[in-house]
Amino acid sequence: MLCLLPILWAEIGETVQSQKFTIGSQSPPSFKAPSPNVPAAHILPLTGKAGVPQSAGYLQSLRYGNHINGVYGLTSVTNIAPSDIFSTNIIFGAQSFQVEIDTGSSDTWVVGRDFQCIDQTAEAQEPESGCMFGPSYTLSHSFRRIPDQHFIIVYGDGSNATGIVGNETVTLAGIRVTNQEVAVVDNVTVTGDRVTSGLLGLSFRNSTSVYAGTNPNTMDRQIQYDPVFTTMYTRGYVLPLFSLAIERSSATNGTAPGGLLAIGGLPPVPFRPFFASAPFQLLNVNNAAVPAADSQKADPDLAYTFYAITIQGLTYERSNETKWSHSKFSSPLEPPSDASHIQVVIDSGTNLIYLPTGIAVAVNALFDPPAQFYTSYGGFAVNCSAKAPNFRVDIGGQTFFIDKKDLILDLGRGTGLCVTGVNDAGYGTPILETPFLKNVLAIFDVGAGEMRFAAREFY
Ligand SMILES: *[C@@H]1O[C@H](CO)[C@@H](O)[C@H](O)[C@H]1NC(C)=O
Ligand SMILES: *[C@@H]1O[C@H](CO)[C@@H](O)[C@H](O)[C@H]1NC(C)=O
Ligand SMILES: *[C@@H]1O[C@H](CO)[C@@H](O)[C@H](O)[C@H]1NC(C)=O
Ligand SMILES: *[C@@H]1O[C@H](CO)[C@@H](O)[C@H](O)[C@H]1NC(C)=O
Ligand SMILES: *[C@@H]1O[C@H](CO)[C@@H](O)[C@H](O)[C@H]1NC(C)=O
Ligand SMILES: *[C@@H]1O[C@H](CO)[C@@H](O)[C@H](O)[C@H]1NC(C)=O
Ligand SMILES: *[C@@H]1O[C@H](CO)[C@@H](O)[C@H](O)[C@H]1NC(C)=O
Repeated sequence: MLCLLPILWAEIGETVQSQKFTIGSQSPPSFKAPSPNVPAAHILPLTGKAGVPQSAGYLQSLRYGNHINGVYGLTSVTNIAPSDIFSTNIIFGAQSFQVEIDTGSSDTWVVGRDFQCIDQTAEAQEPESGCMFGPSYTLSHSFRRIPDQHFIIVYGDGSNATGIVGNETVTLAGIRVTNQEVAVVDNVTVTGDRVTSGLLGLSFRNSTSVYAGTNPNTMDRQIQYDPVFTTMYTRGYVLPLFSLAIERSSATNGTAPGGLLAIGGLPPVPFRPFFASAPFQLLNVNNAAVPAADSQKADPDLAYTFYAITIQGLTYERSNETKWSHSKFSSPLEPPSDASHIQVVIDSGTNLIYLPTGIAVAVNALFDPPAQFYTSYGGFAVNCSAKAPNFRVDIGGQTFFIDKKDLILDLGRGTGLCVTGVNDAGYGTPILETPFLKNVLAIFDVGAGEMRFAAREFY
């Protein structure tokens, strides 16, 4: 991670590529009563590392003055702090890979053997090693190509991947899924990390990125299919929920244990047995990076679906004086019944919590000494030995404390300054990310269409 930092900082304020997308919301689907909060038989250890998560690029680009429910002409993807990417193991046929987990997208893909690596800026082919992926996949005997369909995904920073689709036997967390539709990427501008070979999407069927025809750059007609996790519960292998226990780690080089992902239940971590729940309010990103004729479509294809909820409030010193104004942030999500409530996206993709400007400024002023906004950090920074304020998140009648360790992040720059865990969401949707997730067990109950949280024991 140390060697990555100069690259990440250099990206601050840099416009990567013009990209168009629109934002919407979706009624939360639910098809069964909440699943019981029982231990899962299927647990995946996660590895945490520094990097830029793919779908989170869209959330980042919202912060820079773009309008919600419009067409976005500008994506200025910047990295205020190196983000956390969590990866885990998956088996395609008999070949084993590390893949990045992403709660905002839905496809599961790996790079195929002899894939073409394209330099995003130069738009020229470069050696495969330039894309820095882990091992590539060789089509196996159990792979059944689906003809006349192709995979294309465009990420928030303008990078993209295209490939073929087919059914493969996929094994995840010890669950063997035959005839699972997956994508094998043969052309990519995404840059990997020398470890992961692709991505595991944990979002919904509506956001799958398979399209009709064989022309790899067209997105004319989306053809939805069941993502891996959806297949698992529709075939009755697991209950329709997954849960995340993100681990706090002191490693600054991004190679620390990342926590646990449990499929169909809860991971074996200590937590307090009081669960707060909040219904999903899904935030959609519709990819409009297609020719004008396509963006005229009445029902644009969903590219990403983020899990969002309404929280009851944030508590910190004088928090009763820093009000949230829903009208100021034209969220497409259904407005909360109480105007003071805040809608947040729950995402494991970034190191910082993003809050409305007034709240972010108020919380940062409470550090002792106070945190200040540094352009060179692209966010609030504070003396690394500062004292962090008490900061709590109220959800569904429960209060979740954020450990002070998670509010001061030493990025190893050697300046004595640390980034604070709370940043300004600007024009974008507030997001509760890893500083919050490290303090809770987060349950994504897809069957009941709700999130549940339990406080982790201090660890
Ligand atoms: C994918 O990226 C390449 C390189 O930047 C670009 O030439 C191509 O148009 C992109 N494709 C799509 C569909 O965005
Ligand atoms: C892929 O699997 C699905 C069931 O999951 C099946 O309906 C379909 O026919 C399969 N396609 C091929 C090409 O094997
Ligand atoms: C890969 O993408 C580049 C840039 O979009 C394009 O020129 C090239 O034809 C593609 N190759 C394949 C095999 O699709
Ligand atoms: C998917 O699309 C259907 C039909 O448009 C809609 O009813 C449903 O709520 C959407 N969301 C999910 C997650 O299935
Ligand atoms: C990363 O840091 C951890 C803990 O400080 C250390 O154990 C590990 O060896 C380091 N890894 C690398 C690749 O430097
Ligand atoms: C906020 O709470 C404090 C302590 O209860 C009180 O003194 C103050 O007047 C309150 N401010 C507002 C704007 O309600
Ligand atoms: C941080 O605070 C300590 C103790 O007050 C002080 O010695 C140090 O110079 C400060 N560092 C910076 C970068 O301000």
